Amino acid sequence: MFNLNLLFTLVSVLLISNVKSFEIIDYDNEIDDNFNQNYLVIHAKRSFKDDKYNHYDNYNDHDFVSDNIDYLSFGFFTNIQIGSNNDTVRVLIDTGSSDFWVADYNVCKNEEDDNDDYNSTSSSYNCSLYGYFDSENSNTFISNHTSFFLTYGDSTYASGTFGRDTVTIGNLTVNDVNLAIANYTNSSSGVIGIGYESTESTDFFHSISKENFEYINFPQKLVEDGLIYKASYSLYLDERGDAEIIFGAVDHNKYVGDLYEFPIVPTNSSKNASITRISITLNEIEIIDDNIQMLVGEGYVPVVLDSGTTFAAFPIGIAETMAEYLNMTYNDELGYYFTENCSIYEGTNLRFNFQGALFESPLSGYLMEFIDEDEDVLGCALQISIDAEDFIILGDAFLKDLYTVIDLDDNKAALAYRNNDTETNDIEVIIDEIPNSTHPPLNETFGSDNFLFTFYNLGPIEITTTAGLSTLPVSLPTTIAKVTLS
Ligand SMILES: *[C@@H]1O[C@H](CO)[C@@H](O)[C@H](O)[C@H]1NC(C)=O
Ligand SMILES: *[C@@H]1O[C@H](CO)[C@@H](O)[C@H](O)[C@H]1NC(C)=O
Ligand SMILES: *[C@@H]1O[C@H](CO)[C@@H](O)[C@H](O)[C@H]1NC(C)=O
Ligand SMILES: *[C@@H]1O[C@H](CO)[C@@H](O)[C@H](O)[C@H]1NC(C)=O
Ligand SMILES: *[C@@H]1O[C@H](CO)[C@@H](O)[C@H](O)[C@H]1NC(C)=O
Ligand SMILES: *[C@@H]1O[C@H](CO)[C@@H](O)[C@H](O)[C@H]1NC(C)=O
Ligand SMILES: *[C@@H]1O[C@H](CO)[C@@H](O)[C@H](O)[C@H]1NC(C)=O
Ligand SMILES: *[C@@H]1O[C@H](CO)[C@@H](O)[C@H](O)[C@H]1NC(C)=O
Ligand SMILES: *[C@@H]1O[C@H](CO)[C@@H](O)[C@H](O)[C@H]1NC(C)=O
Ligand SMILES: *[C@@H]1O[C@H](CO)[C@@H](O)[C@H](O)[C@H]1NC(C)=O
Ligand SMILES: *[C@@H]1O[C@H](CO)[C@@H](O)[C@H](O)[C@H]1NC(C)=O
Ligand SMILES: *[C@@H]1O[C@H](CO)[C@@H](O)[C@H](O)[C@H]1NC(C)=O
Repeated sequence: MFNLNLLFTLVSVLLISNVKSFEIIDYDNEIDDNFNQNYLVIHAKRSFKDDKYNHYDNYNDHDFVSDNIDYLSFGFFTNIQIGSNNDTVRVLIDTGSSDFWVADYNVCKNEEDDNDDYNSTSSSYNCSLYGYFDSENSNTFISNHTSFFLTYGDSTYASGTFGRDTVTIGNLTVNDVNLAIANYTNSSSGVIGIGYESTESTDFFHSISKENFEYINFPQKLVEDGLIYKASYSLYLDERGDAEIIFGAVDHNKYVGDLYEFPIVPTNSSKNASITRISITLNEIEIIDDNIQMLVGEGYVPVVLDSGTTFAAFPIGIAETMAEYLNMTYNDELGYYFTENCSIYEGTNLRFNFQGALFESPLSGYLMEFIDEDEDVLGCALQISIDAEDFIILGDAFLKDLYTVIDLDDNKAALAYRNNDTETNDIEVIIDEIPNSTHPPLNETFGSDNFLFTFYNLGPIEITTTAGLSTLPVSLPTTIAKVTLS
């Protein structure tokens, strides 16, 4: 999952204030969806960005954080109500993890009191923006008394206790939903993880003590209760308007062209490896514009489709090759691949070839421009973080231009270009196959027979420091996009 938490951490001293009011700020048309039989529509929002590129103003941290706080909340969020008092909590929708957790009153009580118990690791959680759940005062809450602990790929964590309560999401109230209540966290929001049950924290983190187990998570719960036929959903992640997630159905008006269906594959190529993440087979990456077409690499590599990652993460060889082709140098101070100006990449796209089906993604979505107080451009950073693993993670920078359908029960993912001009719906319930999807041209997928990906790097990348940027906090860039459970 997501976002620029580190920026919060850097300025956390400035954030400790007496927040007495916890009334959550509402989105427009937040929860106005119809619940029809067999599918559930929920609306989500991403913070608006008026600029073409993601900007980071390094000159006035305090103003940046307080004025543009939503701007840091890269990711898609929805409001839900929990418990007998309908406590409203805003959670990140994350296909890259599988646990549903919300902040407990403890997290916010500390902030409210501003007392000696203030736990500095909670300071990145803004209670008035994201809300909290007062489980002690919910008379429908039942604790499981099992401990919850989860860390994400960006180093943030949440810890607390599992329990069950009533959850209202979209226009639907579901009883007895498994969720964790976090007493401590340095994440900036709670999360509704909608991935495979096999990546639940109970399976992952309890495995050391061999007490690992799986429980029914949110998508499966909808199936269990007979609300949808299959553990499946479609993502329409419009970054400027309303994002929409439909559980149990596809909206044919939300995409254009072919809806290609890909088998979900393990991220591990060993024989009998099991599927844990929503990942599909990528065969080629190219950088293209009107004049150039450069092949970064080809072969077989799994790509995790992760709505909880803001940008992307690549294995180092691939990231380095891309940076080379883009004529970027590695800025040691910042920990980014860097160049002077983002505007030179106007019209440049990344082209991903999945089993012969091509999807282009504007490079601008993967860039962040650094500007000073006069809006002069200081530089341009590539927001592709280095993944220690042998797979690629594509986050919102990629998914925002696509329509993505996930069928967890049959391990299928379908992709099409997003339809930008749609007012009406044409919703079809997923009963068996993903409706109206087509097979990509090639059938071979990543696995024990096909696991090599060759990238064509030109040699070691130049390492620079940029004098003009020396005023930037040195600790800034160690994590930039959150990635989950790596
Ligand atoms: C939390 O977010 C609200 C709304 O953006 C903002 O007014 C407030 O200052 C933030 N609180 C903290 C502690 O940053
Ligand atoms: C829920 O959906 C029903 C039926 O579409 C609608 O009448 C009702 O107003 C909705 N309720 C809310 C709270 O949006
Ligand atoms: C909570 O929401 C439900 C469903 O909208 C409603 O029936 C109930 O009265 C609400 N409870 C409180 C305490 O507001
Ligand atoms: C703050 O949170 C950490 C992590 O859970 C915990 O170990 C520590 O005891 C807490 N500190 C206080 C003062 O509550
Ligand atoms: C969150 O807390 C963990 C454990 O204390 C720490 O390792 C990590 O760096 C923190 N991350 C952020 C973004 O604050
Ligand atoms: C966490 O919160 C729950 C519910 O408020 C409480 O029962 C529990 O004691 C808390 N745990 C810790 C370690 O503070
Ligand atoms: C919590 O308890 C319920 C009822 O026993 C069980 O179905 C569920 O799997 C448990 N959840 C977790 C996370 O332990
Ligand atoms: C892949 O799976 C094999 C066999 O289960 C295991 O030994 C290996 O450590 C796994 N590799 C990774 C990167 O997880
Ligand atoms: C990088 O520089 C080379 C040599 O100047 C040029 O041919 C190439 O088009 C540049 N790449 C991009 C993406 O602009
Ligand atoms: C939809 O809008 C996005 C962002 O403005 C753009 O990148 C994309 O090409 C558009 N898609 C179509 C099919 O027009
Ligand atoms: C889906 O496919 C069926 C059968 O080919 C066709 O009749 C129908 O028009 C298609 N629906 C959409 C929305 O494309
Ligand atoms: C790929 O598999 C599908 C379904 O099994 C089949 O219909 C199609 O002919 C195959 N395509 C190729 C190129 O082998």
